[in-house]
Amino acid sequence: MKNIIIITGAGKGIGRSIALDFAKEAGKHNNFNPVLILISRTLSDLEPLSSECGRLGAETEIFQADIADTAKIGNIVDTTFRRYGQIDCLVNNAGVGRFGPLAELTEDDYEYTMSVNLKGTFFLTQKVFPVMEKQHSGHIFFITSVAARTAFKSSALYCMSKFGQKGLVEVMRLHARSCNVRITEVMPGAVFTPMWGEVPEEMKKVMMMPEDISGPLVGAYLLPGRTTVEELVFRPVGGDIND
Ligand SMILES: NC(=O)c1ccc[n+]([C@@H]2O[C@H](COP(=O)([O-])OP(=O)(O)OC[C@H]3O[C@@H](n4cnc5c(N)ncnc54)[C@H](OP(=O)(O)O)[C@@H]3O)[C@@H](O)[C@H]2O)c1
Repeated sequence: MKNIIIITGAGKGIGRSIALDFAKEAGKHNNFNPVLILISRTLSDLEPLSSECGRLGAETEIFQADIADTAKIGNIVDTTFRRYGQIDCLVNNAGVGRFGPLAELTEDDYEYTMSVNLKGTFFLTQKVFPVMEKQHSGHIFFITSVAARTAFKSSALYCMSKFGQKGLVEVMRLHARSCNVRITEVMPGAVFTPMWGEVPEEMKKVMMMPEDISGPLVGAYLLPGRTTVEELVFRPVGGDIND
């Protein structure tokens, strides 16, 4: 049986690692034959990733799209459902951060952060959930952050958006339990990815790596259907690295 897995923000960082880790498990488990639906705005990231996943034994489809474009995302979900007749997993990973002193964050920073982290995540989840509800199975991951729980001074907009995502996670749990759908919130602290831009070597040494997050996430998906991992919290062993 095929497992249809949608991953947003698959082109870089944590999303890319999630795609590769799903691909690595292809054929190793009873009935696990992943078809990875890889979404991000940069086609030149998705094409080599798709080839790499293919070499590992997973089927892939790539879609260049901005998750804030609800019409386009809706079409991708419709196309996927028409083609495969099922959607087994949604990894809400795409997210952005604009960081800085409180007084310097702009209206553009606000609109951008909320349109991706909140609007994009909400409407994609709203579109996919009824499919899972009807098929009485599915798994939705939300990659929020430790910043969905803990405040950081330079992260006013990021924290707002991540606390907001957490609100959606809790609402989705209420909907999901009655229809056998699993909801997992993944809360990482600092992970070394392109999101951080240039990082001093000293700081890189204490950060986590994308595979530290993606491995356990894929493990949570592969657990027997009777069990749901509700939350995964990851921190560098020395604690959060920013204030
Ligand atoms: N890195 C960390 O320390 C950390 C910690 C906690 C939580 N997180 C969360 O983990 C998730 C992934 O972060 P990351 O560090 O891997 O980020 P990243 O390295 O910047 O990668 C983000 C990926 O998402 C894609 N993306 C961004 N906005 C998008 C949009 N509007 N539509 C479609 N794709 C979009 C990006 O590609 P394009 O720009 O080409 O679209 C890229 O492929 C985010 O939700 C982030 O908030 C990260």
